[in-house]
Amino acid sequence: MRRGSILQLVGLGILFGGLATLVAVLIPWLPPVASRQRDRIDFVFWFTTAICIAVFALVAAVIAYSLIKFRVKPDDDSDGPPIHGHTGVEIVWTAVPAILVTAISIVSGVVLVKNEQVPKDHLNVTVTARQFAWSFAYPDEGNLTSSQLRLPLDKTVKLHLRALDVIHSFWVPEFGQKQDAVPGQDTSLVITPTKVGTYPVICTELCGLGHALMRSTAIVMTKADFAAWVREQKNAAAAPPGEAGKAVFASNGCASCHTLKDAGATGTAGPDLDKLPAYAKQAGKPLEDFVRQSIVDPNAYVQPGYPKNLMPSFSTLPKDQLDSLVAYLVKSSKGGGS
Ligand code: CUA
Repeated sequence: MRRGSILQLVGLGILFGGLATLVAVLIPWLPPVASRQRDRIDFVFWFTTAICIAVFALVAAVIAYSLIKFRVKPDDDSDGPPIHGHTGVEIVWTAVPAILVTAISIVSGVVLVKNEQVPKDHLNVTVTARQFAWSFAYPDEGNLTSSQLRLPLDKTVKLHLRALDVIHSFWVPEFGQKQDAVPGQDTSLVITPTKVGTYPVICTELCGLGHALMRSTAIVMTKADFAAWVREQKNAAAAPPGEAGKAVFASNGCASCHTLKDAGATGTAGPDLDKLPAYAKQAGKPLEDFVRQSIVDPNAYVQPGYPKNLMPSFSTLPKDQLDSLVAYLVKSSKGGGS
């Protein structure tokens, strides 16, 4: 090959490689980074992208060069020279991709292992997924519960996922990983938040009618703010029954499907809880019994106009929480509030 041809090929390669690099770098393809695990995943993405750009530049340069250089002359009707393969070239185009794919596998493997590592002093959070809400419990903090995932900055947290009904999947784009919550199986996910902020928690497994509504919020706070929040929650748990019920309502995600003025809930997938007294009359039951039954055994009476089997049973709710929730719903639906 002449020197001129090599220079032209290199020039084309730089041109196509440069264009592809601009597309990769200038367009914000990924959400902002907010965890150490996501940093590592992004490294794998960029490592792979760099390899892809190099291969693309090489292929595009050879194609463009051939199109220009070997274009058929208008009066040339002759056949091209017969070609029977080239062992040397074939070995190269098999060996090089094999090496590149192996390199990507090794880098991915190292990142996967690192992303599952938890230091001794990590925080545990139990993530419960049910149709159609997330709830979060902190076993290290007296098992306090929350409908939002609150995390301290720079502290590694291990999420223990469980599902009460069907398969759900936990995803915070800024944290970079997804993990399924499967009934009867323990799955986990490790996160080390690196940026204070509020991020969406999304269910990414089609889990039923309310799948699109199955969202929560992850709030990353400074360590001091997190400690203050824990203290506040522990005090609130010791509050009078009315308020305790309101907390149970919030931490079990009732608001994602139901409307209840007193709790500021505006969900519409299920019946409007401000109308509970009227519904109880329709069902022919005393209000308190009706509310309790509807929580523990929702299919015993389904308000006309709403689908059967939509509401999951909350029969696993601890007795004291169930009592305070019933008390709260009875009181607030009568317009009493807490
Ligand atoms: Cu839970 Cu989709």
